[in-house]
Amino acid sequence: MRVLSAIQPSGVLHLGNYFGSMKPNIDAVGSADSSLYFVVDLHALTTVQDAEALRIFRYDAVVDCLACGLDPEKAILFYQSDVPQHAELSWILSTVTPMGLLERAVSYKDKVEKGIAASVGLFTYPVLMAADILLYQTNVVPVGKDQKQHVEMARDIAIKFNNTFGETFVVPEPQIKADVAVVPGTDGQKMSKSYGNTIPLFGSDAVIKKAIMGIVTDSKGPSEPKDPDTCTVYQIHTLFLSPAEQKILAAEYMSGIAYGDAKKKLLEAYMDYFTPMRAKREELAAKTDFVRDVTREGAKKAGKIAEETLETVYTAVGLR
Ligand code: ADP
Ligand code: TRP
Repeated sequence: MRVLSAIQPSGVLHLGNYFGSMKPNIDAVGSADSSLYFVVDLHALTTVQDAEALRIFRYDAVVDCLACGLDPEKAILFYQSDVPQHAELSWILSTVTPMGLLERAVSYKDKVEKGIAASVGLFTYPVLMAADILLYQTNVVPVGKDQKQHVEMARDIAIKFNNTFGETFVVPEPQIKADVAVVPGTDGQKMSKSYGNTIPLFGSDAVIKKAIMGIVTDSKGPSEPKDPDTCTVYQIHTLFLSPAEQKILAAEYMSGIAYGDAKKKLLEAYMDYFTPMRAKREELAAKTDFVRDVTREGAKKAGKIAEETLETVYTAVGLR
């Protein structure tokens, strides 16, 4: 069974990306017998149009994934743009994709509402994503909740292609972990780089401390009882705790912990959890040759599978 997932290098990764997408998806590809994980730098071009920024984001995405436990011996790790068949298949698929299917995409509308330019590439983003998935005859695609519709579109496109040209593609299934919470940002809204309310996944001690100490709370006095259910500090802290530990912490809030102390505890929990990954990241950041070799090797392996599928597709449509 083949499992595939990807990460978009469109900014500095934050806690919401880690708990909502990276961690569950890296875990899922890590436990599969055949798996691929890649950095979708072609997709990132729909929002990042600054070459120097994109160079940094795509490199950092690879380093971040390796630091967070992605094992390149198990999962094929590569940059999407290193395997040209993604863009080639995307064109073929676009010719069987109904306009109406893309017009129903929620993510496109959301992005345009947030002020992202409504380019043709942004509109056809789901077709390139379908190519990413179908190129590898993928069975299962672990994704965050917000990506479910995109995987369903890949299914619809695969079925349409198979009906038109004969059985060619495996029809993929989305896999969404039910217990993945929406991580709140420092202002209590959903954490998102577009809201400027993020706690970075990796950053200097000072940056992390500033973000955590700056979490917005209500104005209850130091010894007044606090409501854990409405407290952003508590909600973020629970990400690092077992259910039993969460209960103990909730009791501390209800019996009146000062917000300053609650934030210090969260900072400690953050550091305890991420210290090994931060150390690994630092070690990897200096090993540019290793990172380059891993992704080159990955692109070679992925390219072999991609080439085979694309040849089948070209034959099916009459280009061979
Ligand atoms: P942002 O909102 O910061 O632009 P992206 O849209 O690039 O983040 O998110 C990449 C992935 O990270 C998404 O597919 C989503 O599953 C996950 N994600 C982002 N923000 C959160 C959040 N606050 N809580 C849970 N998951 C999130
Ligand atoms: N759209 C996904 C996201 O924003 C990234 C992505 C692109 C992807 N191609 C994919 C995810 C293929 C899984 C499989 O998170």
